Amino acid sequence: MTEPRHIIESQQFDRPFIAALFDKAAELAERERTGDLHGYTLASLFYEPSTRTRFSFEAAMYRLGGNVITTENAREFSSFAKGESLEDTIRVLSGYADVIVMRHSEIGAAKRAAEFATVPLLNAGDGAGQHPTQALLDLFTLHQHFDRLEGLHVALVGDLRYGRTVRSLAYLLAKYPGVRLTFVAPAVCQMHGDIKEYLARQDVKWREDGDLNAVLREVDCVYMTRIQKERFLDTHEYERAYNSYRLTPENVALMRTDAIVMHPLPRLGEIDPAVDDDPRAAYFQQARNGLWVRMALILYVLNVWG
Ligand code: CP
Repeated sequence: MTEPRHIIESQQFDRPFIAALFDKAAELAERERTGDLHGYTLASLFYEPSTRTRFSFEAAMYRLGGNVITTENAREFSSFAKGESLEDTIRVLSGYADVIVMRHSEIGAAKRAAEFATVPLLNAGDGAGQHPTQALLDLFTLHQHFDRLEGLHVALVGDLRYGRTVRSLAYLLAKYPGVRLTFVAPAVCQMHGDIKEYLARQDVKWREDGDLNAVLREVDCVYMTRIQKERFLDTHEYERAYNSYRLTPENVALMRTDAIVMHPLPRLGEIDPAVDDDPRAAYFQQARNGLWVRMALILYVLNVWG
């Protein structure tokens, strides 16, 4: 039996795969719907809350002509609530579905689950670990806007300590020559050493800078993130970090006219809604792109394309 095509972490992709995925996603954005997956079933298993990832994966499956089985909240409404192990849940769902999309609160849970999955398993976020499908749609959005990825200067701002999206995006951006990363984070939310060491090994230039306004003048993209209250053990630490960095129309005006503002969403106070009308605000387009990239990924893991 051939091994299922799991999607677990950003490091697993190479540039030729990413280029082919983006071509497919762009084609799907044109077509909007296909009947490729008639008779196939996707199981969505989310142990943490989600709006974009769960709904876009489910919408993607329906747009491909397939079906979805889902639990509103796996922590409460799956047999996790009775003490069933992740391993058993995945073994059982592999018998019902052709593909599993899973979000979990523990780092490494997707990798662990994939060992027991006999169908492709896609990591929809594993705690403060990774969110590879988000990073792919982020990269797609950058490519859509700049028509290149090489040489881009991206500022990652906010919760770089617990933020899985910035970790996965850093791994992907490191694959493109000339990319530079600037980390802007409160003292308690700095990027972990493993990413910094990885970037150094890949010869990617990175730096830390506390002056957001100075950084905004330099970059092609500012990627804002929410300070994730739910991951802090110490409320005072969260309160010290919250609201440290905020985008308003005034500081967005410092950015180049061709630069963009991205955010994986949800946002709290870190982007003033008054920024939404600025042509540089790309975050709702970014969320929409999740649909096309996830349609392409589902086709890929099911070996229906590529
Ligand atoms: N960006 C993202 O993962 O959003 P959700 O938590 O709403 O899925």
